[in-house]
Formats: sequence, structure tokens, C-alpha cells
Amino acid sequence: MIASITNYVYILSGALFILSLKWMNSPVTARRGVIAGEIGMLLAISGTLINHHHNWEWILTAFFIGSAVGVPIAYLMPMTAVPQRTALSHACGALAAALVGTAEYYQHQPHGFVMVALVLETLLGYLTFTGSLMAMGKLQEVLPQRPLTYRNQNLTNFFLFALAAGIGVRLIFVPSDAYLFPIFAVLSLVFGVLLIIPIGGADMPTVIALLNSYAGLSACAMGFALDNHLLVIAGALDGSSGLILSIIMCKAMNRSFTNVLFGAFGQVQPQAAKQEQRHYRSASAEEAAAILDAAASVFIIPGYGLAVAQAQHKIRELFDSLTRRGVDVKFAIHPVAGRMPGHMNVLLAEAEIPYDRLYEMDDINGEFPQCDVALVIGANDVTNPAARNDKSSPIYGMPILDVDKARTVMVIKRSMNPGFAGIDNDLYYMEKTLMLFGDAKAFVAEILRELPARAAA
Ligand code: TAP
Repeated sequence: MIASITNYVYILSGALFILSLKWMNSPVTARRGVIAGEIGMLLAISGTLINHHHNWEWILTAFFIGSAVGVPIAYLMPMTAVPQRTALSHACGALAAALVGTAEYYQHQPHGFVMVALVLETLLGYLTFTGSLMAMGKLQEVLPQRPLTYRNQNLTNFFLFALAAGIGVRLIFVPSDAYLFPIFAVLSLVFGVLLIIPIGGADMPTVIALLNSYAGLSACAMGFALDNHLLVIAGALDGSSGLILSIIMCKAMNRSFTNVLFGAFGQVQPQAAKQEQRHYRSASAEEAAAILDAAASVFIIPGYGLAVAQAQHKIRELFDSLTRRGVDVKFAIHPVAGRMPGHMNVLLAEAEIPYDRLYEMDDINGEFPQCDVALVIGANDVTNPAARNDKSSPIYGMPILDVDKARTVMVIKRSMNPGFAGIDNDLYYMEKTLMLFGDAKAFVAEILRELPARAAA
């Protein structure tokens, strides 16, 4: 009886997970998607606890330790640190899957298909654990962001992986060779480290999406090993959505998977000399306010600097003020602006900018030539025309927002420093571009102070 109730609960939570992913596709339904996912997870945990109603003391202990760590992290971690927090979550999830697999091996020493699932689960689980920790360390800058490379690196990695996989195959056929299991686990852990260290910091968010996919596949394999259907469904959803997300991110940056994994992209190039020689124009908040006041259409292009400055609420005020003056204000969102998928959408939603004012890159690019003012706020790489014009640029081929085609361009940032790809931006040196130097939140506040003054004048 209890088992069949659990099955119904699992079907319901599986359906909620699927709906959750569907609803998270659009900013309008994203909140509903998050709630559906949470209810699905609550049902999944409750169903499992009802079915396995023993060892409560262990379950509750784990629950309280997990909550004591997870809740403060969720509240204290700033929005800009979400990618590394996500990497930490993947590390924990993957380690859990790997440890369950390890315990299952030593307790039951399964055979046949279950052993195949268990080997996959532990291999992916352990390598995702250390790989995610490396990714987190790079993003948090406790590890060098630059790619760490050495001679014959790919060959070494391939050899190590082949060795781990070979031992895994041996364990599938001869599960009683228990002495091999710790070697298999250690090789998987080491492979996770070696897989990530040659990848530059700029590619970490893509890699995290990929590691998300591995953690999901590990959980899916765990579902087969434990004969738990919901784990199979949830793991498969996690695995496939992580993979799809990393493909979308690669496309948005015009990079191939192999280039991300083996291309050692993201080394900051020395550009100081180049910057000093080039001429650019800067302007004050008063001048910027005058230009905005005279515009009929303004496109705002948010980027990572907006997240750093937490300027979303000030930008909402600017949006309101300009809209009241009859200016047509639109937000142009690049798919990889910021440091995580949907970063700009989340920030702008927090400030309750109307969703119908947010335009995806492909939908707005054609309108830039008719735009009076493109106001870039803390964005850099996603506006760099070198991606279109300069074949030698590391971002060549990446689709960008056609900001340079607007009639006037204004860029709020603190200095002439490069963005995440570490390269200079030709947009800043164009005749039509005005650099507005300052912190995004403070500068927008200054513009706002100037706008009413002009209205009164
Ligand atoms: P970036 O190119 O990283 O540029 C951000 C700019 O913001 C910097 O040039 C910085 O200049 C400025 N900034 C920083 N703090 C600021 C503050 N407090 N006030 C004002 N400006 C500030 O950002 P982007 O244009 O959003 O591009 C994202 C980059 O990340 C791309 O290279 C993309 O490929 C990469 N990436 C993103 C993702 C996802 S999923 N979003 C995934 C992988 C890679 P100053 O220091 O001069 O202020």
C-alpha cells in the first residue's frame, strides 16, 4: 500500500519537475517554475521518507546539518557569487551520489546492469565533485583563473580517464575485485581536477553547466543502481537540461565544446600599451542627462557591472523617469551578459522592470540603427564589435548586441579596463561613444539627480 502511494507521489513530483523546467523558460512564468520545482522536491523527499521509515535519527541529523549549511549560504551569498555557489551545490550533489554508490558497492557488491550503473554513478560523481570544486575555486579566485597548461596535457588526461574507465569495466565484469575500487575512485577524483585546470575562468560558467549535467547523469545512474524511478527521471532531466544549457551558452559565445574544454581560452592579454595610445571621449552625468532627455528612444544594455554595482533599482528609477518623459525605453539582453544564464533577467525582474520591455538579442539587434541612445551599463564583451570584425580576437564570431549601430552610445563603467575575456573594446573609441566613468549605481543616481533639474529648467 505504502509503496504504491510512494509511486503516485513520485509520478506527481516527476510531472512537477518537467513543468518546472518548462515554466522556467520564460521570465513571465519563471517564479511559478521555481515553486513547482520546490513542491516537486518536497513531495519526492516526503514520498521517500514514507517508504523508508527507518533510520530517522540519521535522516534528521543530515537534514539539520544540511539546512544549517545551506540556508545561510542561500541568504548570505551575493548575486554575483551565484555561479560559484552553483558549483558548490554540484560538488555536494555529486559527492553524495558517489558516496551512495560506494556504500552500495561495499554493502551489496551488485552484478550485471546494476554494477554498470554503479560504476557510471561513482565515476561521474567523483570527477564532478573535484571538477566542481576546481571551478568554484577559479570563480572565487582562490585558484588562478588563467588556464593551467603543460605539455601533453590532453594525452595525460585521456590516459588517466582511459585507466579509470578500464578499471571500471573490470569491476563490472569482476565485482569481487574489491581492491580495485579505491583506485578507481581516486583516479576519478584526480581526473576531475585535471579536466578543469586547463580551462580559463571565462569558460567556467559553461563548464559549470556541463558539470551540472554530469551530476545529473550520476544521479540518474544512481536511480538505476537503487531501483528508484524518480531519481532516474530527475537525474535525466538534470543531465539533459545541463547539457542543453551548456550548448546554448557555447552557441551564444560562438564556441565549440572542444574549444571550451581544451581551448585554454580566457587568458588576459596585455593591452595597457594599446589603451594608452587610443583616444576616447568622456562625459559628465549632467551631459548624459541632457542627451537622454533629448532622446526619443533609449536602449539600455545591462552587463556584469550592473550586477557588481547592484544598480538594478536605480535603473528602474531611470526607466520610470525616462518613460514619464515619453522616451521609448527598451532593455537589450545578451544571452551571456553577466556571469550566469539569465543573470540580467533575474536582476531586472528583481527591480520589477516590465517583462515586455526586455528584448532578446536577436529581436532587438535590427532596431539599433533607429535607436537614439544606447546606454551600456556595466557591459563590455557582449558589445565588442571585434567579435564581428577582428578575426584575431578571441571572441571573434561571438554574436554581440549591435550597440555600435546606435546613433549615440554612452557607456557607464569605472575605467577603461577590459571585461571578462580580457580584451579591449573598439566601441569605446568610436566618435559617437561617450564614456561615463563611475560605479553604475552611483552614476545612474547622478543622472537621475540631473534629469528633474533639466525638466524644471
Ligand atoms: P564583461 O565583459 O565581464 O564586462 C563587465 C564590465 O563591467 C567590465 O568591463 C567592468 O569595467 C564593468 N564593471 C564592473 N564593475 C562595475 C561597477 N561597479 N560599475 C560599473 N561598471 C562595472 O561583462 P558582459 O559584457 O556582461 O559580458 C559577460 C562576459 O562573461 C562575456 O565575456 C561572456 O562570454 C562571459 N561569460 C558569461 C557567461 C554567462 S552565462 N553569463 C558564461 C560564460 C562566460 P570596469 O572595471 O572598468 O568598471
